[in-house]
Amino acid sequence: MRKRILLILAAGKGTRMKSPIPKVLHPLLGKTILERLIGSLTALGPDKIFVVVGHEAEAVSKVAAAFDAETIIQEPQLGTAHALLASREKLAAEGEADLFIVSGDVPLVPMEEMSLFLSAFSSSEELASLVSISLEDPYGYGRVLRDTEGGLKRVVEEKDATPAQKVTREVNSGIYAIKIPEIFPYLDMIDTKNEQGEYYLPDLFSHIYHDAKPVGCFKGSVPEKYLGINSQLELAKAEDWLRVSILNRLLSEGVVIKMPDTVWVEPEAEIAPGVILNPYVRICGRTRLSYGVEVMSFSTLIDTEVGPRTTIRENTLCEMTVIGRDCKIGPFAHTREGTVVGDRCRVGNFVETKKAGLAGGVKANHLSYLGDVTIGAGTNIGAGTITCNYDGEKKLPTVIGENVFIGSDTQLVAPVEVESGAYVAAGTTVTSKVPSGSLAISRAPQKNIEGWVQRKKKKKEEGR
Ligand code: UD1
Ligand code: CA
Repeated sequence: MRKRILLILAAGKGTRMKSPIPKVLHPLLGKTILERLIGSLTALGPDKIFVVVGHEAEAVSKVAAAFDAETIIQEPQLGTAHALLASREKLAAEGEADLFIVSGDVPLVPMEEMSLFLSAFSSSEELASLVSISLEDPYGYGRVLRDTEGGLKRVVEEKDATPAQKVTREVNSGIYAIKIPEIFPYLDMIDTKNEQGEYYLPDLFSHIYHDAKPVGCFKGSVPEKYLGINSQLELAKAEDWLRVSILNRLLSEGVVIKMPDTVWVEPEAEIAPGVILNPYVRICGRTRLSYGVEVMSFSTLIDTEVGPRTTIRENTLCEMTVIGRDCKIGPFAHTREGTVVGDRCRVGNFVETKKAGLAGGVKANHLSYLGDVTIGAGTNIGAGTITCNYDGEKKLPTVIGENVFIGSDTQLVAPVEVESGAYVAAGTTVTSKVPSGSLAISRAPQKNIEGWVQRKKKKKEEGR
C-alpha cells in the first residue's frame, strides 16, 4: 500500500476574520480550530502530518508541534496551490504517496466519511479527487462544474464565476486527495490568471481533466460538517452547530438540560445520565460529572471532576478541581487549580480556594481565602478566614488538622500549623503552631467604657 500523508493548509491570514489572531488559532468550543482539526485527523492514522504555515507561523507551528506534525513555511502566501508548491520539496522526498489535503479552516470534518473517501481514492486510478457538498447557499465557495457525462470538469471560484455558474449548489469543500509524485507536472501548470491573482489549488482538476486523466469527486453527506470558517459569523455558526450536536447527544444519553439554548458543553466533557444542567451553565475542557450531580445557573466548570450527588450552586467557578461526593459548592464560590475537595464538604459564598486539600466533611461556608493549605476531616473554617500564604516572594503552606475549629476572621500566617482538635478563637492572627487540644487566641482585651454614649450625646446638645 502507498504511504498516506496528511497536509493541512494553514498559512493564510484569514483576512475576513478581521482579527489579530490567525484564523486557525481562534477557539472553537474550547480548543483552537487547528487543534480540533488535527486532533480528529490523527484518527486516520497518517504516516506523516505536514502543516503549511505562513501568517503568524510561530504561533501556528506551536500547535502543529504538539501533534508531532512537521511544519512547512509558505512565504509569501500566494494561494492554496502555492501552498502545495511550497511543500513540493518535502513531499517529493516522501516518494510515492496518497496525499490527503485539508484546508485548515474546516474543523468539523467527519472522520468516518474521510476514511471512506481515502479508501475509495486509494483503490482507484484517479490522480486527484475532492469532497464536494451541496449547499442551500453556496455563496463564497468554489462551484463544482461537471461535464455532460457528469464527471468533474473544474472548480470555479466565487469571484470568477459567471451568474450562470453561481447558481450551482454543489461546491468544493476544500478537502482533496492526490497522488504524488504523479501530480507534480499538473501543479506546474497552475497560473494566477484569475480575479484574485492567486494560485488556486482547485485548478489542478481542470488541468488533469484536459489531459484526459481520471479525477474523482466524493459527495459529503452532512454539509454542516464541511463548512469552512472564513468570518466571525461562520465561526459562531460552526461553534453553535457543534454545541447543539453535543447537547443532543447528551440529551439522548439521559442528561437533563434546562433551556439548552443557553448551555455550553465542550466536546471533551463526560457527563453521566441524570446529571442536571441548569440554564446558563458552562462545562469546559475535560470536566467529568458523576451521577446525581446538579449544576445551577451561571456556573462554569473547567477541567473539573465532580463526584456523585454533589451540587454546584449558582455563580460558581471551578477550575482544575477535584470534588468528592455529596458536597455543596457555592453559590459564588471559586475553586482554583489544585483544589481537592473530599466527600460531604461545603464550600460556600465568596470562598476562594487554590492548591487546597479539604478532607471529608470540611466546612468553609463564607468569605474565605484558602490557598496552599491542607485541611483535615471534619474541620470547620469560620467566616472570613484567610490563609496569608504569600510573603511577597514565595508561597508558603498552611496545615490544619482534623476536627479543628477555626473561628471567624482568623488570619493564618504561613508557614503555620494548627494541629488536630485545636481551637482558634475568632479574630486571631495565627503566627505559630497551635498544639492539639489547645485554644489559640490573639485579641486586644475588650474594655467597656460605661456611660460613654450618654456623655457624647450631652456634649452634642450643649454644642461643645
Ligand atoms: C477554498 C477553495 C474553494 C472552496 C473553499 C472551501 C481555493 C482557491 N478555493 O476557498 O474552492 O470552496 O476553500 O472551504 O482554494 N491557505 C494557505 N496558503 C495560501 C492561501 C490559503 O495555506 O496562500 C490556506 C488557508 O489558511 C486556509 C485554506 O488554505 O486554511 C483555504 O484558504 P481560504 O482562503 O480560506 O480559501 P477559500 O476562499 O475559503
Ligand atoms: Ca476557507
